Amino acid sequence: MAKISPSILSADFGNLKEEILKLERGGADYIHLDVMDGIFVPNITFGPPVIKKLKDITQTPFDVHLMIDRPERYIKDFVAAGADIITVHEESTIHLHRTIEEIKSHGVKAGVALNPSTPLDSLEYVLDYIDLVLIMTVNPGFGGQKFIASMEGKIKNMRQIIDERNLNILLEADGGIKLDNAKEVIRCGLDIIVVGSGIFEAEDVVERTKMFKRL
Ligand code: DX5
Ligand code: ZN
Repeated sequence: MAKISPSILSADFGNLKEEILKLERGGADYIHLDVMDGIFVPNITFGPPVIKKLKDITQTPFDVHLMIDRPERYIKDFVAAGADIITVHEESTIHLHRTIEEIKSHGVKAGVALNPSTPLDSLEYVLDYIDLVLIMTVNPGFGGQKFIASMEGKIKNMRQIIDERNLNILLEADGGIKLDNAKEVIRCGLDIIVVGSGIFEAEDVVERTKMFKRL
């Protein structure tokens, strides 16, 4: 069964505490936190101080997705804020292996995200060092975008690599996953789905989270 990591990007930012408690009641396995800097992606969201405050209200692990330029500058801050998984973009950091090692040196799980156009090959020499691969199924920056169909093949190929080499890597996908395509996307071989608008567009967020959990 795939785990669910609801993204608070589409939540009510004025009521984050209540929104997170709803996700928790719905059985969310992680809380997905989208950090954007207005440079790596066009949008700006929040940073370590907000995450640190949110950490006080829930035990659910924090899955922090950094869409920021040169994330290595801020790893320590996100660790101190309470991140359980830190995922950086392959495209955002020049010394990817070093950045991964830095994340792991703090005892936090290290993930690498790939934009839709970035090939799986770019991970070849770091596969032995990472805990998670995040396949972006939209171009990062905004919630509510349409799932890019060709990403299904990319997820399947990554699953095959993980299985053939017996790697200890979680496979996650992010973007455009809704109730009507979630099953099909999960079947491509995912361990974790990220869902933003697919949850927060619902009138009953608790019930909608449960619906994704039951898939
Ligand atoms: C997009 C973010 C996603 C986003 C997903 O850049 O990384 O986590 O919140 O939102 P939906 O599920 O609405 O596509
Ligand atoms: Zn994300």
